[in-house]
Amino acid sequence: MADSHLLEVRTSISGQVDTVIVAVFQDSGKKAIPPQGQYQDIVEKLRKNGTFTASFGSIQFIRFGGVEPAENVLFIGMGPSGDLSPEKLRQAGAFVAVKLKAEKCGLSLLDLKSVTEAGSSEISAHQRIKAFGEGFALSQYRFDKYRAKESKDSGTINQLRLVVIAEDKKEKAAIQKEIDRVNQVVSAVALTRDWSNEPSNFGTPEYFAEEAKSWGRKNGLKVRVLTEKDAAREKMGLFLGVGKGSERESRVVVLEYQPKNKKNAKTVALVGKGVTFDSGGVSLKAGLRMEDMKHDMTGAATVMGAILIASQWQVPHRVIAVLAFVENMPDGDAIQPGNVLTSRNGKTVEVINTDAEGRLVLADALDLVQDFEPDAVIDVATLTGAVSIALGKHCCAVLGNEQTLIDALCRSGNHTGERIWQLPLFDEYLEDLKSDYADLKNSANDTLGGTIRGAMFLKQFVRKNVKWAHLDIASTGYNMGHIPYYPKKGASGAFVRTLAQFIADF
Ligand code: BES
Ligand code: ZN
Ligand code: ZN
Repeated sequence: MADSHLLEVRTSISGQVDTVIVAVFQDSGKKAIPPQGQYQDIVEKLRKNGTFTASFGSIQFIRFGGVEPAENVLFIGMGPSGDLSPEKLRQAGAFVAVKLKAEKCGLSLLDLKSVTEAGSSEISAHQRIKAFGEGFALSQYRFDKYRAKESKDSGTINQLRLVVIAEDKKEKAAIQKEIDRVNQVVSAVALTRDWSNEPSNFGTPEYFAEEAKSWGRKNGLKVRVLTEKDAAREKMGLFLGVGKGSERESRVVVLEYQPKNKKNAKTVALVGKGVTFDSGGVSLKAGLRMEDMKHDMTGAATVMGAILIASQWQVPHRVIAVLAFVENMPDGDAIQPGNVLTSRNGKTVEVINTDAEGRLVLADALDLVQDFEPDAVIDVATLTGAVSIALGKHCCAVLGNEQTLIDALCRSGNHTGERIWQLPLFDEYLEDLKSDYADLKNSANDTLGGTIRGAMFLKQFVRKNVKWAHLDIASTGYNMGHIPYYPKKGASGAFVRTLAQFIADF
């Protein structure tokens, strides 16, 4: 989580600027509106000869076509000004960054007026700078830790920088504040992505526990790591059951952020599924794309990113995060279908399918976090393949026991462009999880309503009067290349920003 300096604000231009970035909107006839000022003539020409219509995401990059302070100019098409939204700005920021990188540009200057003056005044100038900058910076992420030096990106990542010029010191300070927040968010999302992308031969439960400890402490969080011995003392039988078939020790990490000088702060609890590799266990997965199962700890990584942002933003609420790290493997000591395990809250579970391990892990983690008497509990997990069937990749699923909490999460998602969609949790779904031998079974006899059944299982571990919501990010946690500010392949870091926003607004 290196401090990112991709975004800067200054009061004057000093140093070599490669390119000026100008946002261009469309008129009602779907033609580019020439911006006022020095680029008016060029856009007028491009409009006349039809090379640039300013349709959303289209780019005209012109070398040596600019005047002071840069020789290059990049026009980014924004579509009709009436359609402008923070998400469009975020995506535009990413399109621009990708193009600048391809053109080997370094320091680029955003023409603020072109971005802040068009369209509805409902989106403030600060919001616009923030959204554009966020997309710009988020799109720069690379995971090349395990590449040979020569094949690593040739350093352009660090050189690519976006500068905005403020009118005076006061404006600079105000924009700087916003940019600082964006930089914090971008760094935290990068941490989440790094964790999720980490191959499971390195990214073991112990590794992540150590990482969580050092990042947590660096950010002023209280951190406690539970070993398997500690978890046994806590009677976390479901969690420990999942790890039995692995050579690697399981770990539970509890992080706590306490706001300064706030005695009666509310408590938000986050729980993350941290399965460092999900082979399926004895109910072994088919081989196809099994390598993706290193990402099965993305829930825990997402929660970590969110609590780091919350602490950096110094939100006025207490935040507790429980990250449950374990590897699901099929060795001679592994749990088997038909085994009965006892959870921390005393309920017994018949394991029908060892591949439905996420709910076992989360059940005990949820029980643990409720000892902190939270005002809301949100768990995040790559829980079911079924969520891809239900919702595809354009939103994640939320299920829970409290509508206002669910609504608040959906609102936060609309704010950040990371959409969340509710699925029902009718009592009838519990029928499918009744066992002949134990209080519950972890999987039903068929595959209907898989995401709902997963959530229904978790609900059995939520105490009375505790507000709880579950985010199933199995389809959105990685491989989200259709969104320009997410990496083409691998971890997306989706919902880190949303959770942080949710906590801030709680
Ligand atoms: N980690 C998987 C869910 C998953 C699948 C995430 C595909 C990302 C992509 C989870 O542990 C799992 O295997 N769930 C099973 C549950 C079933 C056995 C009830 C599933 O979804 O098939
Ligand atoms: Zn599984
Ligand atoms: Zn899993």
